[in-house]
Amino acid sequence: MPEAPHHVPVLLEEAIQWLTVRPDGVYVDATTGLGGHTAAIAQRLATGLVIANDCDAESLEVARRNTAPWADRIRYRHGWFSTLPAALAEMGFDKVDGLLADLGPSYAQLTSGPRGFSFAADGPLDMRFDRSGGITAAEYLDRATYADLVRLFQEAGSERRISERVARAILQARPLRSTRELARLVEEAVPRRGRLHPATKIFMALRRAVNREDEELEALLAAAPEIVRPGGRVVVISFMSTEDRKVKRAFRDWIRQGRAVPLHKHVIRPSEQEVRANPAARSARLRAIEIR
Ligand SMILES: C[S@@+](CC[C@H](N)C(=O)[O-])C[C@H]1O[C@@H](n2cnc3c(N)ncnc32)[C@H](O)[C@@H]1O
Repeated sequence: MPEAPHHVPVLLEEAIQWLTVRPDGVYVDATTGLGGHTAAIAQRLATGLVIANDCDAESLEVARRNTAPWADRIRYRHGWFSTLPAALAEMGFDKVDGLLADLGPSYAQLTSGPRGFSFAADGPLDMRFDRSGGITAAEYLDRATYADLVRLFQEAGSERRISERVARAILQARPLRSTRELARLVEEAVPRRGRLHPATKIFMALRRAVNREDEELEALLAAAPEIVRPGGRVVVISFMSTEDRKVKRAFRDWIRQGRAVPLHKHVIRPSEQEVRANPAARSARLRAIEIR
């Protein structure tokens, strides 16, 4: 039998603690995934509600099953961060009591061959969080110019020389259709150094571009202080330093503009115990802020 998709929620206790869930509050989990954080919020509600949002309909289906015991307190919503304000208005919510975002892909998405995120599992070069629309990683590579690819790989932290070599190899080899094809191409173009597989940063860069992750995070950060009521909280968990930097800057700007008050001095990281139990948590960083 195929293994059921799973994902261990990261910084779960900390996220719930900083969100300060009230039994009668209305919360948005912008990244429900498989429902780990959503379930923890829902369990603390009496008359309140949690809006369980995700742009991945397949994950949302699993979340629905995983959170079934508390379904009377959950409203599931399939959609992107950028359309969240309109969706909340449509649902009749002017402001909510808190918003949580646990960024990036889930372990289940990342390790599924058919979803095409992983160079370790063969599958179609897809990488879309939302398979109901948008362009796949294969289509992205078909359309990209040499300059687009070099910039993309460099932004994801690859050296210029490596970015250029991989971009050139892609242009010569395309159309590329499978994760294995791309992984092999990168292995051939880039000598392996250290422990990190040479395809790691290339796959991450592509996934971020396909899902417009920078633009989506910016849209979420622009909307958050408008969506959350004064006294309510915004909690964001990031796994990449570029994302954490964006969150840190946005929070700092809100404080300067008098739109929010700080809650902690240093970024919150998982405990050694959590990292030992779930090594995937090691790069997680949590920031929380209170809206004024
Ligand atoms: C790290 S996982 C969340 C895991 C979840 N907290 C749990 O406990 O199962 C992030 C989720 O956010 C979703 N996601 C990423 N970017 C999104 C966006 N721009 N709009 C909506 N959902 C997004 C992904 O599809 C993924 O399911």
